[in-house]
Amino acid sequence: MIQQRVWSNALVVMAFTLLTTLATSCTLEDQSEPHARGAQVYAEYCVRCHGEDGAGGGVGASAVPDIRPRAIWSDTSDTLLVILAFGMATQYSADSVVRTMPPAPYSNADLAAVATYISKYLGGVDRSFTAADVQRAKDGHKQALNGRLQQVSEGTQP
Ligand code: HEC
Repeated sequence: MIQQRVWSNALVVMAFTLLTTLATSCTLEDQSEPHARGAQVYAEYCVRCHGEDGAGGGVGASAVPDIRPRAIWSDTSDTLLVILAFGMATQYSADSVVRTMPPAPYSNADLAAVATYISKYLGGVDRSFTAADVQRAKDGHKQALNGRLQQVSEGTQP
């Protein structure tokens, strides 16, 4: 009888411990979720050009600069999200493009996750982005492009 009681007490303790562990690990996972997904996207797609730490050294190493010291990390506008969604090319001449970053083929949620991740691990700043932020950045960029197109068609471009 006593033996049985000890066993059932032990079972209750074990079940409690298991539940507490599960609950804690779920909470921890939730908190690190954007960084975990961001790290995955970075490793899968960005690392080939930017290297593990953003210093470059991947494909076309000489054409991919070290992005860690860039002003983008202190830019609080949507520029980072626009660059991830649409790519960038800052060095080009009449017959060649020297440095280009292609648009990243990921969902808004994944772009938000990788932006959150690189801000922290490459830029050293705590910024958190959502899928809605990415959509807003895309809409804003499209609107700006449409504005420019209209100026071109009206012949009023600067
Ligand atoms: C094919 C190579 C390539 C891939 C893949 C790539 N990039 Fe880039 N990225 C570049 C190059 C080249 C530049 C520099 C462009 C310039 O200075 O004109 C750059 C610039 C950047 C910058 C700096 C922007 C600024 O305004 O200073 C960030 C941040 C960045 N990339 C993040 C990423 C992330 C995150 C990914 C993955 C989703 C990624 N890149 C994928 C080549 C790449």
